[in-house]
Amino acid sequence: MTIDFILNGEDVLVKTEAERRLIDILRGSFSLLGAKAGCLTGSCGACSVIFNGMVTQACLIPAFRIRGSEIITIEGFSLTDEYQDIVRGFFNAGIENCGYCDTGKIFAVEALLSRNLQPTRGEALAAFNGIKCRCTEPEKLADAVMAIADKRQRRSYGRGA
Ligand code: FES
Ligand code: FES
Repeated sequence: MTIDFILNGEDVLVKTEAERRLIDILRGSFSLLGAKAGCLTGSCGACSVIFNGMVTQACLIPAFRIRGSEIITIEGFSLTDEYQDIVRGFFNAGIENCGYCDTGKIFAVEALLSRNLQPTRGEALAAFNGIKCRCTEPEKLADAVMAIADKRQRRSYGRGA
């Protein structure tokens, strides 16, 4: 089947089998390698993308569901101020990344802050429940999220960034 959708702001077409996973389409047909094929069962977060406005695991989306959809991968998201704030926030909190779950961690923060600009520390910690990260202490992640949230609030309210 041939499927059309919007990928990082561009209209694209792909020929594929109906059951092929979105993660395999992104990596295999578009050479977008930022989303990783990790567990392939929806439990590690490494394959996260924004699918029709929601952070979603690309390993759980079959090709037939993507027709007409809008997908933003980490490559597209990296062009935004929000991405830059998250990455800078991780750096400032001393978070080291091995690269395996960066995409999952970044989109976990985006999923939280896009619906809740003033998370509690508990909510910040819970945002990473779906991410399997063996490199980062949860407390450092929470520190980073609180600082990133503060920055985004200031940006939203026009008090500078
Ligand atoms: S590869 Fe999709 S959640 Fe792990
Ligand atoms: S940064 Fe290494 S597994 Fe998360």
